[in-house]
Amino acid sequence: MNLPNKIELANLPTPIHTMFYEGFEILIKRDDFTGTEWSGNKIRKLEYLAFDALNKKADVLLTCGGVQSNHARATACVAAKLGLRCILYLRGSEPKTVDGNLALSKLFGAEIKYVTAEEYDQIYSVAEKDIKKLSKQGLKSYFIHEGGSSEVGIWGYIEFVNELQKQLRKIKNKPSHIITAVGSGGTLAGLVLGKKLYNLKSKIIGVNVLKTSGDFEKIAVDLANKCSKKYKLGVKVNSKDFEILDGYSTEGYENITDEKVSLLTEISQETGIIFDPAYTGKAFYGMIDHFIYQANEFNKLMFIHTGGIFGVFAKMKQYISNSEFGLLDAENIVRS
Ligand SMILES: Cc1ncc(COP(=O)(O)O)c(C=O)c1O
Repeated sequence: MNLPNKIELANLPTPIHTMFYEGFEILIKRDDFTGTEWSGNKIRKLEYLAFDALNKKADVLLTCGGVQSNHARATACVAAKLGLRCILYLRGSEPKTVDGNLALSKLFGAEIKYVTAEEYDQIYSVAEKDIKKLSKQGLKSYFIHEGGSSEVGIWGYIEFVNELQKQLRKIKNKPSHIITAVGSGGTLAGLVLGKKLYNLKSKIIGVNVLKTSGDFEKIAVDLANKCSKKYKLGVKVNSKDFEILDGYSTEGYENITDEKVSLLTEISQETGIIFDPAYTGKAFYGMIDHFIYQANEFNKLMFIHTGGIFGVFAKMKQYISNSEFGLLDAENIVRS
């Protein structure tokens, strides 16, 4: 196999932990342990993207996302580590309180540019103006797709499957289903391609936190097949190779219902694991609802914890007010 090169940045392999919910054993693949500042799934993609950027002699990394984007924060951190400049195009306007991922991106020295939803839809043309200006200053730019989800970036999750297969050799009762949150689709595309290449038996399940299941069937299939073609992998992916659980983000990407948060805070209090509001919280809730509450068939579940912890700080009041302390105590805790 014609594997691309990467820079080793993440703490790999990430461990597999076990938790119990309503008597069911659930495996948690702790990709939130990939690092502290670059915690989460994005660093696996950035290892390949950063190699490509340095190989192309880039001086500046440019990327985009929501105001609380984990990917933007991880990119800012990698740029700081590699001595590169970083420009982030964030969808929305500057919030009154700068916290969570946004605060960290600033701390890493990234230049932040807020863009409207319309501009975001054409983000490469917005970035292109800066790329031209930088070029006049003699600086080379490297633009990273939303979520790092490109033919290069998804190698992070192709190779995740290779790592996982080695770990699963030591586990007797293998997971029948592996569940992940889906945002830009790259993690899912990499997993599906990795499943084919490394002969993983478990079914891959995505929980979409935006767009529709139909959108992601197309996005993931196209991305996986483009990568397969580019690297001559000799495999073809189709929408029957995975499943999307739709309908677990009707409140919108930037919000999360109290019902979901109350499950998450219960899990935090019983296991010490934290799930974020935009991605892992919705996906974890979706997995529990679909397989356990609605009793859909499975033998064993594995949840990929794709990180996102800093997003919790932007919603901390909601999280704490849903814990057993109640709103009054929660407010006291926030203030103290
Ligand atoms: C914490 C977290 N989990 C999951 C995802 C989804 O990954 P992907 O964008 O590869 O679909 C993202 C980013 O979008 C994320 O930040």
